[in-house]
Amino acid sequence: MQTLRLTNNDSAQAAEILRAGGLVGIPTETVYGLGANGLNPEAVRAIFKAKGRPQDNPLILHIPEASWLERYCENVPPQAWALAQRFWPGPLTMILPRKALVPDEVTAGLETVGMRCPSHPLCQEIIRLADIPVAAPSGNTSGRPSPTTAQHMLEDMDGKIDAIVDGGPCSVGVESTIIDLTGDVPRLLRPGGITLEQLRQVLGQVEVDPAVTRLMGAGEKPKAPGMKYRHYAPKAPVTVVTGDPAKAAEYIAQHADAEDGIICFEEFLPLFTGRSVTRPVMDLGPSGDKEEQARHIFDALRSFDHTSVPAIWAQCPDSGGIGLAIANRLNKAAGFHIIQV
Ligand code: TXA
Ligand code: MG
Repeated sequence: MQTLRLTNNDSAQAAEILRAGGLVGIPTETVYGLGANGLNPEAVRAIFKAKGRPQDNPLILHIPEASWLERYCENVPPQAWALAQRFWPGPLTMILPRKALVPDEVTAGLETVGMRCPSHPLCQEIIRLADIPVAAPSGNTSGRPSPTTAQHMLEDMDGKIDAIVDGGPCSVGVESTIIDLTGDVPRLLRPGGITLEQLRQVLGQVEVDPAVTRLMGAGEKPKAPGMKYRHYAPKAPVTVVTGDPAKAAEYIAQHADAEDGIICFEEFLPLFTGRSVTRPVMDLGPSGDKEEQARHIFDALRSFDHTSVPAIWAQCPDSGGIGLAIANRLNKAAGFHIIQV
């Protein structure tokens, strides 16, 4: 299959391909998604095939506005409307009871469905023109870091999907926050662009699912099936070093072998000069700018797959704000191999 390259002038064509049951790479503000008609079981099955995604991992439905929630969800609670009012369109996914018309292929047989209203203007336009809920996981091959540019998505999906729409680099850089509203207390299943602090401002109490901050033991089942997989995994093993940024950088400089890969805050790059291009150092952004770090994290992890580094050392921000999402992605890439300095 030849993958069509589309741009911001081609939203009608992208919408047409989606309506016809095809697969389209779509830009969102978080990461690129692999979109298909979320009401067409066959199209949804093709997503799993293209990604090599495990069958038990459900997909999120993308809608253009909150009023569509009632089409696909049963008993939408007041909390969902309050969150939509405050954070949609934007990087927040809500888990809600599904209606029967949502195919089992989307929910992996669960009685709940993840709903998200993305803010990327081109994505909004495509979904509105298609006039269908678009099922879309992140556009990477299963197990690889999520793509934050069309080029990254093509590395994984060229020849496997009908088209990709280039909407530029993603402005958030990590996937949406997932909040489960089906239990007694709202529960954060995946941290993302909408922070835990912001959610608590609207909801009051929010529990954090254990899968966010630690490795799941054998037999433990995270509420978001996808959180159990070793996602975001570069080929080389990763060690995360947290704590005071200057001390962490110093620790890495002392312990990394000459040929190891490094992910560090911008101000510590000079500690690692002298390494050759085959021993790359990736800049995560300034230690004081977590939004910038979020935009770089997947690019940094992905970049090492083009090299033969035997190991990767990464600095990590504290878990305030979007730091919780960055730490979660880094810690998962590291299999929760974390050194605290
Ligand atoms: O930002 C995003 O959310 C991106 C863009 C493309 O919108 N999408 C994305 O999808 O990250 P994906 O499939 O890579 O991650 C979805 C996560 C998985 O961990 C999945 O297990 C969880 O959401 N999930 C989906 N439906 C669920 C449900 N009904 N209950 C619990 N978890 C669910
Ligand atoms: Mg994903």
